[in-house]
Amino acid sequence: MRKEIRGYNEVREAARDWEAYSSDLQGDRDVRDYRQLPLEADPPRHTKFRMALNHVFSPGALRPLSPDFEALAVRLIRELKPRGSFEVLEDLVIPYVIGCLTIIYKRPQDFAEWRSWGPDVWNAAAYRRGEDVHAAEVAHRNRDFSIKSPRDGQVLQEYLDQVFDEAEGRIAKGLEERDIWDFVAGLEIDEQRVNRKEMQGIANVLLAGGRDTVIKLLAGFVWHLIEKPSDADFILESEENFRPAIQEMARYLSPLPRMERVPREHAVGEDSERDTDKYVLLGFVSANHDPERFEHPEKIDFERERNAHIAFGFGPHSCLGQNITEIETIAFLKAVLPELSGWKFEAKPNLEWVDEPLADGSTTRYLDKFKEIRIALS
Ligand code: HEM
Repeated sequence: MRKEIRGYNEVREAARDWEAYSSDLQGDRDVRDYRQLPLEADPPRHTKFRMALNHVFSPGALRPLSPDFEALAVRLIRELKPRGSFEVLEDLVIPYVIGCLTIIYKRPQDFAEWRSWGPDVWNAAAYRRGEDVHAAEVAHRNRDFSIKSPRDGQVLQEYLDQVFDEAEGRIAKGLEERDIWDFVAGLEIDEQRVNRKEMQGIANVLLAGGRDTVIKLLAGFVWHLIEKPSDADFILESEENFRPAIQEMARYLSPLPRMERVPREHAVGEDSERDTDKYVLLGFVSANHDPERFEHPEKIDFERERNAHIAFGFGPHSCLGQNITEIETIAFLKAVLPELSGWKFEAKPNLEWVDEPLADGSTTRYLDKFKEIRIALS
């Protein structure tokens, strides 16, 4: 069993200390053979890739897109109305998040392809077959390998091969940059054009980083605001209340529950030759639900004071997608809030809770996954 670092101070400290707890490792070893960038690198290499991507994630590049995000959410909601009922994830949140990514990355032609992958790119093949992947995920997390993993990297790989062949072809012809893949394929780090594995590594975080995390956050908002309409009223009171509400939902849900690190002394040699049992995990859930740091961490409190949670990480790898998350969520809420009074649960929401260990050895009930939230419209 691998060690998990738990507790607010401990996780924060370890996340900051990249020299002791390195990100120089390849994750998702079952489905890919290249590193996600800038995620799986240490400074100074990490910093160069991070700087190169800054432009994509800057508020200046993203804010002008917010009316398009809101228009998308409004359209999706309008299309649901004649149906009388809908399912929050499949019918609203997943198409919304994927639609936003097509807008940010200037790839509207990819909507159907990305939508067909479902919430998680590594489960795309299983999702297309209509399988429930959650049971296998939970079993594998508990090191129970009796259920075969549905994870598969082929769907993503075929897509990446195609788009980067096209992008490199366009660059070779001297054509103008058209979309995110032209941008990524044209990047230069240390005056050297990125190679194909690096392009794939960057594409991975661009496609995967902001997918299941934001899907969980938005589904969480719909679920919570129906359960507690006074919190919807609180957000409606002032534009300034969006931010604390988003931060608190991010803390409570901690959509990226843990990340891998390799203790420096084990960050040597090829990934394939390393003993990954020596790797450790940073437990973001345990940090964000640490009762020493947060009063009643099990409660959602939009008016929580000094909410210095670390749901978006901490230190050099802190999330590059925070602006995207915030802008997408605000646009989504602006479209959803006026509708909420007509939305009721059609059945009890199907949620997956797990007992999550905390630093002091106790456990907390953590909302692991929104499986299904059916809404009846009135
Ligand atoms: C609720 C939404 C999100 C949550 C909770 C979240 C969480 C995180 C966390 C905890 C990390 C740190 C990982 C580590 O320390 O190893 C991280 C890094 C990152 N996230 Fe997010 N994320 C979210 C949305 C997004 C979005 C929308 C994107 C982009 C489309 C994105 C892109 C990235 C990237 C590129 C990194 C790597 C940064 C680096 O290594 O320097 N994330 N995220």
